[in-house]
Amino acid sequence: MKEQTFSAGICAVACVLLLASQASGFSYTMEQMCAQISGTGYVGNPSSCRAWGYCENQKLAGWGTCDDGLIFDSQKSSCLPANQTICSTSAVTTCANAKSPMYVADPTNCTQYAWCAGNGTLQYGNCGEGGVYAANNQTCVWGPACPQDDICKFIKSGSYIGDPDNCGSYISCNNGYGTAGSCTKQYYNLATGMCQNANPCDGSSNNDSSGDSSSPFTVGEEVAGVCASFWADAEEAVADKTDQTYRYVSDNTTCYGYFYCANSTASGIWNQCPAGTQFNVAKGQCVSPAAFACKFNRCGNVNRQFMTVQYTGCRSYSICASGVQATCQNDLYYDEINNICTQTRPSYAICTATAPTKG
Ligand SMILES: *[C@@H]1O[C@H](CO)[C@@H](O)[C@H](O)[C@H]1NC(C)=O
Ligand SMILES: *[C@@H]1O[C@H](CO)[C@@H](O)[C@H](O)[C@H]1NC(C)=O
Ligand SMILES: *[C@@H]1O[C@H](CO)[C@@H](O)[C@H](O)[C@H]1NC(C)=O
Ligand SMILES: *[C@@H]1O[C@H](CO)[C@@H](O)[C@H](O)[C@H]1NC(C)=O
Ligand SMILES: *[C@@H]1O[C@H](CO)[C@@H](O)[C@H](O)[C@H]1NC(C)=O
Ligand SMILES: *[C@@H]1O[C@H](CO)[C@@H](O)[C@H](O)[C@H]1NC(C)=O
Ligand SMILES: *[C@@H]1O[C@H](CO)[C@@H](O)[C@H](O)[C@H]1NC(C)=O
Repeated sequence: MKEQTFSAGICAVACVLLLASQASGFSYTMEQMCAQISGTGYVGNPSSCRAWGYCENQKLAGWGTCDDGLIFDSQKSSCLPANQTICSTSAVTTCANAKSPMYVADPTNCTQYAWCAGNGTLQYGNCGEGGVYAANNQTCVWGPACPQDDICKFIKSGSYIGDPDNCGSYISCNNGYGTAGSCTKQYYNLATGMCQNANPCDGSSNNDSSGDSSSPFTVGEEVAGVCASFWADAEEAVADKTDQTYRYVSDNTTCYGYFYCANSTASGIWNQCPAGTQFNVAKGQCVSPAAFACKFNRCGNVNRQFMTVQYTGCRSYSICASGVQATCQNDLYYDEINNICTQTRPSYAICTATAPTKG
């Protein structure tokens, strides 16, 4: 029983992650939703209320559209008659089919809501400046985050998914709204949907084809020969530091580990970058992973669910827990810093870097 593995305290509503920075528009693509779902399942398509996607092994494995007159109800995970189902992408569609009066959210503009007259027509109401419509309570509340813009909006009610902004934790989806939670003294593995002792986020249980991101070295470990091998590669970082006699060199294994070299013949002393950063040899510093293209497993030391796959122009990202690679829908680009798919290629170095011709 999956439920029994969860004994986490329930967060208050304030703890629920309201995902979008803008009041309208949905932040997740079907691929990104699938990436958080263990096993198999369906997700709604944010661009059409009749369309759905099928997820398998954290990938979007198929998609389709309900028959005419039906709407895909994401929470019930089935195609249902349009006259009794809210279209989560269009108030106009919902009201056109509504047989009795009701209020519905306007998925294109959270500042307003729609009143379906029950005869196919609708009128818009306005929550006023700073207000947004909360469909679950049929009231206006203070923004800016739109309560409906929740990753659970297109996910079956009653399911647990991985938290895209907090690797190792989960979100419990109910009727389109998520409640963040975490395993008691354990980590949530979104690939299995279970709590476990090993941290699935540090890359140590990673099956990425680019290599395991865990380090074979320990902090302070001395390794002979590495300084001689990599001394020249760190040249660029010290070019303008004439009085610096030591160098930091790559560990040639991880994105976040490096060796301190007192001189070119000394043994290297291993150390690792602060959490969230990775080692850029050219700068001799620990920096944001997006600021350069590390050629090793980019999921190491970042506690992130997704990381851009290097040398793809930010077209592909990898799901850190499983190492599976995926791409954004509709040829969009993956923006690693904001964790969204976007129309314009982000300007980060990781998006423009091309594969090195040597080494
Ligand atoms: C709703 O639609 C279904 C199928 O299209 C139809 O069978 C049913 O009679 C409709 N209900 C109402 C109240 O119009
Ligand atoms: C639909 O109902 C509303 C409210 O009762 C009414 O104002 C409107 O004229 C009706 N429209 C049609 C096309 O019947
Ligand atoms: C959203 O709706 C409000 C209230 O009707 C309106 O003032 C505002 O211009 C709308 N915003 C957009 C982007 O359409
Ligand atoms: C809806 O209203 C109830 C009662 O006021 C409140 O406890 C709940 O937190 C509200 N839900 C949301 C999502 O705002
Ligand atoms: C890694 O792959 C192996 C073989 O494909 C599999 O048995 C193992 O469960 C995978 N580990 C994780 C953490 O996904
Ligand atoms: C760095 O690692 C790669 C892959 O394991 C290996 O082929 C290469 O020889 C290593 N470079 C040095 C200088 O040890
Ligand atoms: C290189 O550094 C090591 C460790 O600090 C030191 O023992 C050794 O004497 C140094 N060698 C040279 C040639 O400076």
